[in-house]
Amino acid sequence: MKNDLERDTKFTHLGRPPAGLGTSVSHPVTRASTLLFEKAEDLYRNDIRGYGRHGTAVHDSLAELFTELEQGVGTLLFPSGVAALTAPVLSIVKPGDHVLLTDSAYGPTRHFCMTFLARMGVETTLYDPHVGAGISDLIKENTSLILLESPGSLTFEIQDVPAIAKAAKAKGVTTLIDNTWSAGLTLSPLPMGIDISVHAATKYFGGHSDVMYGAAIFADETRFKRAQMTAKQLGNASSPDDAYQILRGFRTVLPRFRQQEATSLALAEWLMTRDEIQQVLHPAVTDHPDHALWKRDFTGGGCLFSVVLTPLPESDVIRFIDNLNLFGIGYSYGGFESLAIHCDPQLRRNCAEELTGPLVRFACGLEAITDLKSDIEQSLASIF
Ligand SMILES: Cc1ncc(COP(=O)(O)O)c(C=O)c1O
Repeated sequence: MKNDLERDTKFTHLGRPPAGLGTSVSHPVTRASTLLFEKAEDLYRNDIRGYGRHGTAVHDSLAELFTELEQGVGTLLFPSGVAALTAPVLSIVKPGDHVLLTDSAYGPTRHFCMTFLARMGVETTLYDPHVGAGISDLIKENTSLILLESPGSLTFEIQDVPAIAKAAKAKGVTTLIDNTWSAGLTLSPLPMGIDISVHAATKYFGGHSDVMYGAAIFADETRFKRAQMTAKQLGNASSPDDAYQILRGFRTVLPRFRQQEATSLALAEWLMTRDEIQQVLHPAVTDHPDHALWKRDFTGGGCLFSVVLTPLPESDVIRFIDNLNLFGIGYSYGGFESLAIHCDPQLRRNCAEELTGPLVRFACGLEAITDLKSDIEQSLASIF
């Protein structure tokens, strides 16, 4: 495929079977554990797919699209976003190593580092998401990995990704970013010097809240091959049906993303004008503390943001969430439907500024913004 085509065109045409008489537009789903060989002499060939765990044509197409999305050299696919984070990490660290993890990280990433890696004899230090080039001072002799997430998925700090990548490269440390928020559509971390970009494809690429999936995209062959081996050793395999669902979602992710991005920004800007809201944590909003950094590195937003409510008892915050009619109560985002959660019980950050009120997170779906506004308005009215 020509390299100068626009993203929309590539996402439409890449990874499709060659046209023929009566061929389907997409690869059919092949469900298989056993793959049959014609001749015994082929059993031990390395150049052909020999077993169900090694994927299908649908997996290959999906990997091709993710590699194109992130401008990497290769993609590994996983049955969840968490698996897409943990297997690459395990391909890098060894007992005695040290890991730097942003304090704004997704809870299960933090838990994995603090428990699983600790049990392996790998020490984790949490760093301030705003550390920037200062990360250099935190890198120790035995630091092998820096984990980033930008923005943080509850508190929405933007990290100085190029500065962290540069400092890491100077000291030979691998960098891995959780790029789920931007879907890789508004942030391209690999050209900024990051080594591995990870997606919970469960979110935007699934797009319909009915499938779990993950992808890790690599900037270089060495780390890619090593992680491929680790994933293989861990028995990683994802269902061809799930891979198909994600591939299907990939074909329409751009227009869905654009609408959700526009809705989230418009809602965030409207919420800034409300007396019930103390602060809006959305990096695309001009008065966000990291707006300048966001503008420098991102080409757009995402569907997810938080607000700090004017202080009120927790029971009222819970009533606010309960009284929303169009926002479902659920943890995810990137689906076609809007969601809301209250965040305070899961805020365990050490080094961020204190939030001045209860934190509520909204994930915007594809509903009309007027309806979403009215829904928030009526629920705010019920508690203030
Ligand atoms: C930022 C982020 N990373 C990773 C994950 C994990 O993805 P999954 O639920 O597919 O394991 C999530 C899920 O909520 C997430 O929000």
